[in-house]
Amino acid sequence: MIPDPSRKYRAFPPVVLPDRQWPGKTLSHAPVWCSVDLRDGNQALAVPMNVSQKLELFDALVACGFKEIEVGFPSASNTEFAFMRRLIEDGRIPEDVTVQVLVQAREDLIERTFEALQGVRRAIVHLYNSTSPAQRRIVFGLEKPQIVEMARKGARWIKERLPKLAGADIRLEYSPESFSATEVEFSVEICDAVMEEWGPSPERKIILNLPDTVEVAMPNVYADQIEWFCRNIKRRDCALISVHTHNDRGTGAAATELALLAGAERVEGTLFGNGERTGNLDLVTVALNLYMHGISPGLDFSDMSALRGVYERCTGMTVPPRHPYAGELVFTAFSGSHQDAIRKGLVEWSGRGEGAIWDIPYLTIDPSDLGREYREVIRVNSQSGKGGVAYLLESEFGIELPKELQREFGPLANDAVDALGREVTALELKEMFWREYVERRTPLALHHFHADGVDGVFRCRASLRREGVEFAVTGEGNGPIAAFVTALASIGVEPFEVVDYRQVALGSGTEASAISFVRIRTGAGRLVWGAGVNTHIQLASIEGVISALNRAV
Ligand code: KIV
Ligand code: ZN
Repeated sequence: MIPDPSRKYRAFPPVVLPDRQWPGKTLSHAPVWCSVDLRDGNQALAVPMNVSQKLELFDALVACGFKEIEVGFPSASNTEFAFMRRLIEDGRIPEDVTVQVLVQAREDLIERTFEALQGVRRAIVHLYNSTSPAQRRIVFGLEKPQIVEMARKGARWIKERLPKLAGADIRLEYSPESFSATEVEFSVEICDAVMEEWGPSPERKIILNLPDTVEVAMPNVYADQIEWFCRNIKRRDCALISVHTHNDRGTGAAATELALLAGAERVEGTLFGNGERTGNLDLVTVALNLYMHGISPGLDFSDMSALRGVYERCTGMTVPPRHPYAGELVFTAFSGSHQDAIRKGLVEWSGRGEGAIWDIPYLTIDPSDLGREYREVIRVNSQSGKGGVAYLLESEFGIELPKELQREFGPLANDAVDALGREVTALELKEMFWREYVERRTPLALHHFHADGVDGVFRCRASLRREGVEFAVTGEGNGPIAAFVTALASIGVEPFEVVDYRQVALGSGTEASAISFVRIRTGAGRLVWGAGVNTHIQLASIEGVISALNRAV
């Protein structure tokens, strides 16, 4: 990098629009969506999709609810042409879906495009030519009037060929490519000229697509350009304003959203933002951004994982793990405080009943709306706190740890995970808990226990082993645990007190067992937890006492 970038790069000139209206607007409904996965997305692949991959992705786009799909550039290659023909000849285009095809302002290419469209019911012919100063100078070597003439001719050649598709509903879309890098006055001039040639009406509008072909400025500048354009185009009532952003500065989604505030009505983009360089606008992100504000996007991403699978299989691209809404990790919290807040939020939300507004810390959207599971929300690594540990044990195994026990076990589990240096599964956590509490059978091990109660007085008989020596003990108390505590005193176990005791069922049916959580206070005043698991409820509690005593040693 150079110390003074202003010697090499220049700032982008702002649009003069002091009374801009878009900052005061809000979005209230979804735009018309057009997927350009099969064209712009496809042309950005090192190995473009073959016909069967395109067909699979086309079907997936239809299933998501896209009603306008740019299927290719039929005059560009045999595959592109064959794909268009296949869609038409196999009757694969649903009644309510319009296919869109891209073509440059060249007569031979337009002719071939019309051949590809023979038999289509409804289509958008998308004409484009570059308009920016750099493209005019470097690529075409032409002045503005010649560029306008190029666009006019393209529109005329398309119009002249409409009789070839008699009976079909054909609309025109025109893109002044590199719109965002073009002088706004010139963009309006060239679009006015194309409209003059095509002759749209308020009932049969032309689509004016204003591409951010290369993202060159901040999203507010693009919004200004869109508002300026909408205010200055001669027949605004005869045009549907479409935006098509790319993501060179990483703000393609923001640019699209601000452009919608500024008057755009239609959005072109791709699934997960595949496209040239840093990609096209990610339609999934913008659609779900609307959804999380309570606005129906008119697209369905209920099975996000399946859609991601189709996309990855067809394009050979991958969706990064932190990609908004779709990435593997986006409904996963590693940080302990996040886990705790999510866990409490989920409990509170489900307690509010059917129809409760979603308001969960750290989760902007209910993962289950996208076919993902709450279980995915919390995973445990060394950054996790007691909340995540408790959540996993409860959600996976129904083991609901008392709060104070969570505080004791959380740090122990964290240390163990830290030592492993990786994330752990719920099963591994359960095994840690078992090792730490349930399987603590030394120095004291229980062999046999029996208690009976009459009139609130319980007598117990137990046999135990301590350091290789067997003991048979008896005791009396107001419950089996109290009787056992007395019995232990007779073999010289340090006096202790049971200060907390809870039990929950584990599983159901004949396999059902119980887990008891027992907290003791030792003679020295230490509070220690123990846990016991047994199919016999009473034994589970006695094993809990033994576990606590063994841990207190
Ligand atoms: O990015 C772009 O400008 C395009 C046009 C062809 C619409 O893809
Ligand atoms: Zn593009």
